[in-house]
Amino acid sequence: MVDSESVRAAYDKFSDIYDKSWAVYIRRHKEWLDQNWPAHCPEDGCVLDLGCGTGWALAHLFKTRPALHLTGVDFSEEMLKISRETVPSAELLCGDITDPDFFAARPKSDIVLSIGILHHFTDMDAHLRDLSRLTAPGGTAFLSTFALEGEMMRKFDKLFRKKLPSAYNEILPHAELTGKLHELYPDAEIRSTILRSDGATRLQCFILNFDSG
Ligand SMILES: C[S@@+](CC[C@H](N)C(=O)[O-])C[C@H]1O[C@@H](n2cnc3c(N)ncnc32)[C@H](O)[C@@H]1O
Repeated sequence: MVDSESVRAAYDKFSDIYDKSWAVYIRRHKEWLDQNWPAHCPEDGCVLDLGCGTGWALAHLFKTRPALHLTGVDFSEEMLKISRETVPSAELLCGDITDPDFFAARPKSDIVLSIGILHHFTDMDAHLRDLSRLTAPGGTAFLSTFALEGEMMRKFDKLFRKKLPSAYNEILPHAELTGKLHELYPDAEIRSTILRSDGATRLQCFILNFDSG
């Protein structure tokens, strides 16, 4: 069972070295966003980055698509502090994205990003359901998380379960997560790819285009 205090504390502590430690991961994701940015997203559309961390994704979007309205949410004040420096023009909110009331009064977004956060939730399915709840009809969600593929990733999973038992749930094999998404969203167009990241780390990246109807 993941305890949100432990997750927050881990990132508060890790914030200073995060971008350096995950440099390749960040670069791969920027390329992935660029290559797959939906043509139907309005130039001044709204983007919501769930667990935005240090804000590198929002900063990249600000640089490449400056008319977008950018919002990031994270519950680590130390990560958000860096976001505020990285992308001062974005709306940056401190809050728990698993809290169903947090987004209640907010309009849905054209694009929702969930990058590198799924393994921190006890209820992964609830987070997967939130993707469509928070995305406007006809909008797109980008979901990326580690993939339990290969010996290295199995070791990584084991190590993190042992070292951070209250901040880390597990990572899923690609086939399992793909199956979950198709079951939850039979009408969505779902594309996926596996990316190599830092070391032998593998990422499973999904683009979900939700029905406009
Ligand atoms: C691995 S980092 C990913 C950050 C960024 N999306 C990236 O890919 O670099 C996970 C982030 O999610 C945030 N986070 C985890 N659980 C959260 C929750 N329930 N509510 C808000 N933020 C959360 C953490 O504070 C941390 O900044």
